[in-house]
Amino acid sequence: MTAALACVGGGHAKADDAQAVHPEQWPRATWPLPKDAALEQRLAALMAKMTVEEKVGQLIQADVLSVTPEDVRKYRLGAILAGGNSKPNGAQLANAEQWKALSEAFYRASMDTRDGHVAIPLLFGIDAVHGHNNAVGATLFPQNVGLGATHDPSLIREIGAATAAEVRATGINWTFAPTVALPQDVRWGRSYEGYSQDPALVMQYAAAMVEGLQGKVGTPEFLDSSHAIATAKHFLADGGTKNGKDQGDAEISETALRTLHAAGYPPSIDAGVQTVMASFSSWNGQKMHGNKALLTDVLKGRMDFQGFVVGDWNAHGQVQGCTNDDCAASINAGLDMLMAPDSWRGLYEHTLAEVKSGVIPMSRVNDAVARILRVKLRAGLFDAGAPSTQPLVVKSAELVGSPAHRAIARRAVRESLVLLKNNGGVLPIDPRKRILVAGDGADSISRQSGGWTLDWQGTGLKNENFPGAQSIGAGIVEQVRAAGGAADIAADGHYTGKPDVAVVVFGEDPYAEFQGDIPNLLYRPGDDRDLELIRRLRGDGIPVVAVFLSGRPLWVNREINAADAFVAAWLPGSEGGGVADVLLRTRDGRVANDFRGKLSYAWPRSAVQGQGEPQFPLGFGLTYADHTALPKLSEASGISGEQIPVGDYLERGKAVHGYTFTLVGADGAAVPGDVSSASTADASLRMAGIDFKAQEDARRFAWNNDKAQLTIRAHSPMDLDREANGDVLLVMTIRVDALPTQDAWVGMGCGNGCQGHVALGPQLAKLTPGKWVRVGVPLKCFRAAGVDMHHVDQPFAWGAGKGTELAISRVALGTDVDQVIDCAK
Ligand code: BGC
Ligand code: BGC
Repeated sequence: MTAALACVGGGHAKADDAQAVHPEQWPRATWPLPKDAALEQRLAALMAKMTVEEKVGQLIQADVLSVTPEDVRKYRLGAILAGGNSKPNGAQLANAEQWKALSEAFYRASMDTRDGHVAIPLLFGIDAVHGHNNAVGATLFPQNVGLGATHDPSLIREIGAATAAEVRATGINWTFAPTVALPQDVRWGRSYEGYSQDPALVMQYAAAMVEGLQGKVGTPEFLDSSHAIATAKHFLADGGTKNGKDQGDAEISETALRTLHAAGYPPSIDAGVQTVMASFSSWNGQKMHGNKALLTDVLKGRMDFQGFVVGDWNAHGQVQGCTNDDCAASINAGLDMLMAPDSWRGLYEHTLAEVKSGVIPMSRVNDAVARILRVKLRAGLFDAGAPSTQPLVVKSAELVGSPAHRAIARRAVRESLVLLKNNGGVLPIDPRKRILVAGDGADSISRQSGGWTLDWQGTGLKNENFPGAQSIGAGIVEQVRAAGGAADIAADGHYTGKPDVAVVVFGEDPYAEFQGDIPNLLYRPGDDRDLELIRRLRGDGIPVVAVFLSGRPLWVNREINAADAFVAAWLPGSEGGGVADVLLRTRDGRVANDFRGKLSYAWPRSAVQGQGEPQFPLGFGLTYADHTALPKLSEASGISGEQIPVGDYLERGKAVHGYTFTLVGADGAAVPGDVSSASTADASLRMAGIDFKAQEDARRFAWNNDKAQLTIRAHSPMDLDREANGDVLLVMTIRVDALPTQDAWVGMGCGNGCQGHVALGPQLAKLTPGKWVRVGVPLKCFRAAGVDMHHVDQPFAWGAGKGTELAISRVALGTDVDQVIDCAK
């Protein structure tokens, strides 16, 4: 690898810099389906009737927020998807009935033969990654990190079958699962989507999950109407990127790629997986979406994969020379279907032109279309009829969140719990005693479910959004009361009668993808509230059982030391009662369920990733038969200095570490803004400290000249391109006091003379004067305004007309706001 390849900040390697690949050294797989003459005949007949426009349409997948059934009818798109934040009709949450109506409308559009079109049923893909997690009321299984700990492939198969049934019951036929990543650096925010760091386990699970979702090859159930099309993802080395950066670069050898990261693919292919999703990430500087050697020579050649390769969310746009709506290179490299959520229309036009001009050879188009149609034919979509007539859809009310599925999930919860410490035998708990369930995870179905749960990031949810589900605390209370004991939930740990034992449930806030990337393995840096709670209860003489909810192992030695017992519960999902099943004895004093979970990720000794031997190795997990006492663990995290959450720029009116806040006068002269009051020398902009929630935690600004601005400068430029690709917003907590003119703007800077502005005036004018609100501007808008998102050195700038008065308390990246100010409008 050359130095140029290692260059970050959006630098792209030249195609000829790509590392050589030796397909003959890679593991083989065997496509398990025999040639099907009848299917091939049907395929040939279809292809003969299709126009080039119809063929190009098949190659494109649009997101339901940006495409209508009428578009599908007109453009003959091969597939739609519902992304993590894309619900029917833009709703925030959707139940099975709403999903059914949506799938029905799109199916009918694809079969509409007006204008002489060929009827080809469309594929509808969704991220059913821990159950049908976008449907309100569905069964939520533990996230994959927890399933890894169960070491139980037959359970995985059952979960796959149950998930497929719930997906099909809503008329959806395709899930973007399983993730067969091997997360090597758990700072990666997607670590919880992987089963394990151990390739042997991932191999077993990949096969079991594909078989569960699709049914067993060679039996009548294979891809029948109660199974769903599976996707092995993300090819390749999504879990091998440097520093665990999402969509980053795996700077590793071909051997590591082949022996570690590729492990899940041959077993998936042997089990008949119909689709593989290409990874956003790069290998030694080259984006996977443009890597022909790996997509074509290895995956389709050496591994004999005869399904189709689908792209990830606008990931083709990151290939050198491509944009979201134009990327012949990806198709030529072997991508068969491009995921073009909001860019599908432009992509369709450009691809069509490139096919007509020969930039994309017709043979490549025919191969891709044939692969897609074979999947549709094998899955019986041409004969299945409209969703509303399909057997599972008809009985969806019985299937989605059914007691039988919940029972499987609850068993999975029981099997996934890993006991790391049980000093003095505080566990199992006698349910006839008085028990307190404390901590902010005690009664939070959202926190116990994590990201990809009703919402992309899994945030902003309440227990009432999860009908049929049970929180961990509710499960404990139910069993304790049934056994004649007393139990209460108090998140803050306050009690009236002194409990005999306390269970403290705490852990990470939900996150998904890059928003979960962290700089080190500290748990909640700078915030010791959980540790203090455990210590306080212990100080009151109450034995404490800590139940830790997390998407990855983190450095929690202080919490482990503080508690008598410590359970890694991962992200167990909707069946919180499974925790009580293991923690509590039965009413008559028996142990009904011992701990069975064993770590499938190594637990770290310090907060520095990859440093030294793990604290608890792969395979570790105590049972009730173990009577070992864990000695005190080291409380040196290995990390020093202030820890700042990524994406925070201004907190409590002040720039955070690594950023500088400045007032720039109309004459261009700057004065420091990190003080409580200031004025530019030309008096064009004045600032004063004011109180929002605490003393002087906000700043109020008065403009006397519309050329004056405030800016926040980053000490080193940031690559926010990834964030701009999703729905991340620049979130500002503000209060407008006076707005005599409408020429306010917010901007970002990208180096000398490089700044892009988004107009805010008309929307600000609609805010209630004097009232604090969180407004958010999509990062996409800054890109559209000309900001080079790969090199943002000024994440925030603000200008306004003379006479404007407004206050600001916080500026950060996020998704949670009161009001979005969209540039499109
Ligand atoms: C993720 C994929 C997911 C897709 C569709 C992407 O951002 O990387 O794993 O399947 O979105 O939601
Ligand atoms: C995710 C999608 C999500 C979208 C939001 C993507 O990166 O994969 O599932 O809906 O961002 O903009």
